[in-house]
Amino acid sequence: MAVGIFDSGLGGLTVLDAVAKKMPDLPLVYLGDNANAPYGVRDSDDIYELTCKAVERLWEAGCDLVILACNTASAAALRRMQEAGLPEGKRVLGVFVPLIEALTERNWGDNSPPREVNVKHVALFATPATVSSRAFQRELAFRAIGVDVEAQPCGGLVDALEDGDELLAEALVRSHVEALMRRMPKPEAAILGCTHYPLMDKVFQKALGEDVKVFSQANLVGDSLADYLQRHPNMTGEGTENLFLTTGNAARVSDKATQILRRKIHFQPA
Ligand code: DGL
Repeated sequence: MAVGIFDSGLGGLTVLDAVAKKMPDLPLVYLGDNANAPYGVRDSDDIYELTCKAVERLWEAGCDLVILACNTASAAALRRMQEAGLPEGKRVLGVFVPLIEALTERNWGDNSPPREVNVKHVALFATPATVSSRAFQRELAFRAIGVDVEAQPCGGLVDALEDGDELLAEALVRSHVEALMRRMPKPEAAILGCTHYPLMDKVFQKALGEDVKVFSQANLVGDSLADYLQRHPNMTGEGTENLFLTTGNAARVSDKATQILRRKIHFQPA
């Protein structure tokens, strides 16, 4: 019984943490492709190949359901993987939809036609690959009309967070927020469209100002996964243990993960 959680690196741990708090008895297999992070500066073919490889590794580890806890992989690879066809009984879900449902105040899976929503000016912070895919705007257009989205590609931020360079990460957040606010001075809401960014959520909030509602994915994905598993209880796979896998240096990744989650985490080589 395990669900797979995949990210290019450490950012998906923000999602894992929320899922583990919501469903403490659900075994989770985490895979961080730290050797190949960041994905956000790669082209979409490259992101697709790397994501497929990682997801196959999670099937091998006994997962039937894999959450792409990576917006860049969700934007560049999810639809293509689903169109190419998944093995019998396997499912892959992304992290965009729960966020957009929260922003547009919809219930899970509400597929009614797009309608006017309260927020009109939305700031999107994401990796360069996610921004250029326009996947967020595409998914939003299925659900809402009249929303102006200003997107800021946050170059360098994932690298700084993967390297544990907090000072650089803070400086980058402030400069990306300033750059966006020059183009959209008064956003009503801000989307942290990369699972690494909740590690900096307070810095984003401070730079944006208290009036801006900041949406980040971890808890939203945790809630929607709980809902999904209630409706599809057979999707929890065969695995029975929590497992942390990385393509990077396991000792180094374990240390950083232990700092992020504030509990001892032991990564093994994938
Ligand atoms: N956490 C990934 C995301 O949500 C980071 C992508 C990257 O490796 O650049 O987009």
